[in-house]
Formats: sequence, C-alpha cells, structure tokens
Amino acid sequence: YEIYLNGMNGTVPRLPTDLTRLEELAEHRLGPGPVGYVAGSAGNGSTERANRAALERRRIVPRMLRDVEERDLSVRVLGRTLPAPLALAPVGVLSIMHPDAECGAARAAAAQGVPFILSSASSTPMETVAEAMGDAERWFQLYWGSDREVTRSFLGRARAAGFSVLVVTLDTPLLSWRPRDLDRAYLPFLHGVGTANYFTDPAFRAGLDKPVEEDPNAAVLRFLGLFGDAAHTWPDLAFLREHWEGPIVLKGILHPDDARAAADAGMDGVVVSNHGGRQVAGSVAAADALPGVVGAVGDRLDVLFDSGIRTGDDIAKALALGARAVLLGRPYAYGLGLDGQAGVEHVVRSVLAELDLTLALSGHASPATLDPSVLTEGSD
Ligand code: FNR
Repeated sequence: YEIYLNGMNGTVPRLPTDLTRLEELAEHRLGPGPVGYVAGSAGNGSTERANRAALERRRIVPRMLRDVEERDLSVRVLGRTLPAPLALAPVGVLSIMHPDAECGAARAAAAQGVPFILSSASSTPMETVAEAMGDAERWFQLYWGSDREVTRSFLGRARAAGFSVLVVTLDTPLLSWRPRDLDRAYLPFLHGVGTANYFTDPAFRAGLDKPVEEDPNAAVLRFLGLFGDAAHTWPDLAFLREHWEGPIVLKGILHPDDARAAADAGMDGVVVSNHGGRQVAGSVAAADALPGVVGAVGDRLDVLFDSGIRTGDDIAKALALGARAVLLGRPYAYGLGLDGQAGVEHVVRSVLAELDLTLALSGHASPATLDPSVLTEGSD
C-alpha cells in the first residue's frame, strides 16, 4: 500500500515498477559502457532471447475461490527458511554501475531478508561486504580457478567472513565470445575492478614477483591466468567438498546427467542457469532445461533457477516447473546503476510484491501449491 499512500501525497516511485524498462533507462542515464557490459551476452544474443521466450511461452492458469487472504512466500532452501524464493545472483564488478557497488546491493538484499550471493569477481573484498551485511544471509560464489592455494584461501576467507553457502560456477572456465565486450576490449576488467578478492588474497599475492601495487599489469595477468580452469572434471569436486563444510551448489547445470553427477558428488544443490545467456550462444533456454533437471534430481538436491527472470510471474513459473527459488541478475544491477542501494531495494520489493499478487490472483496462498499443472504452453 506504500505506493498508493505516496500517490495520495503526489509522490510517484523514482524508478519504473515494470523492471523490463530498467535496461533502457539505465543505458540512457549511464551510457553504453557500463550498461553494455551488464546487458551483453554471448554471440548475437540468441540464448538471452530464448530465455525470455521460454518463460513467456508458459502461461499460468489462474484458479478462483481458494482463500488467499493469508499468504506466505517463505520457502525452505538448503536447510534454511528464506522469507521469499529469491536470492540476488552473483554479478561481478558492480562498482561500474554505482559507487554503492556490492555493499549497496548486499545491504538492500539484507533489508529484505534475501540472500546476497557475492561474486568472486566483485569490486569489493568479501570481508568488506560481510561487514556491511551484519549477520544477514550471504553466500559466496566461487570462480574455481587453476590455483588450488588461491581456492583454498578464498574458501577459508569466505567461511571466516560468515558466507554460509558456496556457489560454484561451472559454466565459465573461459569467457565466451561476447561481441559487445570484445568491441570495447573488456574495459571494465582492464580497469581491474573485478580483482578485489584476488588482489587482497595472501595466496594470490604470494604468487607474484612484485607486490600488486608495484606491478599491477603482472597482477592482472596472473588473475586472468588462474580465474578459470578448463581442465576440471567431476572427480575434482572432491577437493571442494573436503574444504567447505556447508552446503555447496553447482551453478550452470542444464543437463539431467550433470545434475545426477552433482548429486553423486555429494553436492547439495544446483542452479539451472545459462549465465543469463552470457556463455554458450545457441544454448538451450534455462526454463526449457529446468523440468528435466528437476525430474532427474528434484528428490535428491535443491534445484534453483536463473536466467531471464524479470517479473513476479516469471518466478511463479520457475517455481511451478520445480525450482525451490530463483536468482535475479541484471535487473538489480540496473537498479543499482540508477539509484544505488535504494534502486536495488526498489527492484527486490517490486518483484516480490508482483510475485505475491500473481500467486494470490492465481489462487495460491504460498509457493507450496505450485506444480507443473499450474502452467499451460499457450499459443499466441
Ligand atoms: C553475471 N553472472 C555471474 N555469475 C557468476 O557466477 N559470477 C559472476 O561473477 C557473474 N557476473 C555477472 C556479471 C553480469 C554483468 C551479469 C549480467 C551476470 C551471471 C549471473 O549470476 C546470473 O546467472 C545471470 O545474470 C542470470 O540471468 P539474468 O537474471 O541476468 O537474466
């Protein structure tokens, strides 16, 4: 009702409540550089478009007279209760969008009780973000690189800083062919803002001939060399299982057999994701991959979902297809760019309010009653 009450006083929201409009607005206000990096995707963008199409093609069939007066969006995920089926996806180098950067986004998430997943490639060291969040729920995303000492050090630092879940991103051992970034020669990375966790890391620094401050170019080269490791195979997960006591979630799973391998390797969850269409051009749409993964491991693992979520009804559809919760990527980065921490709060509150209304108007008092029968594949 806050928006209605403000309207009585003649105050309208500072940002659009249709989150699909944020990209255009952000590009208009911030220019094509930073927004180009966030909006960019692999190849000619076909995967990103397919992500949207796969969600939009599925339609909710609303039900009536089902007493939705009392509603509860909370869900159980990875052994904890979340107030809503939402987390903020790991997004690197947020300082290119706004000086509030990761701390602003993390505080906005904390204010709504939504987990914040900090990227390995954040522009703020993990300890600083942790301090900004108090005891709010935070997860750490690992880019699982080729230097085991650095990985071990990251895991130790993340645990010490109160990150409770490890999210291991498997779809980025190499950066894909991203024309929008290539045409700009990856300026955000060359500015080095995604290297904060690395440059502050003792194991990373120990591998340098000269201190980072004396030879930053050599440090960037070391970062580029160990950021990913295309040689990893499934048995290597044992190393992570050994060095992380809490839940581990594998991000970037699209094939049911990979989901089964994750369960066999003792993982706790997977994120069905194609990195928002940023890695494999021509990839299966994430929402089209979700039912197969849920069918394969839904009773063994918590299946999360991202790639293409823009609205409350997108979340409802992902939950109906079997996801326990979803991650939101680009929209909150645009909110941050447009209005700092307050912009991220606007995005989170808007999408959750829309989810609440969508569920209620479709006859669901909680996510528990969502299943595939709620959806139809409409014809346009
Ligand atoms: C990402 N994503 C990402 N994922 C990850 O595991 N580590 C990272 O550092 C990043 N960095 C990153 C930067 C930017 C600018 C974007 C847009 C995305 C992927 C992210 O976590 C998530 O999978 C997608 O953003 C989800 O798709 P949508 O919501 O953007 O469509």
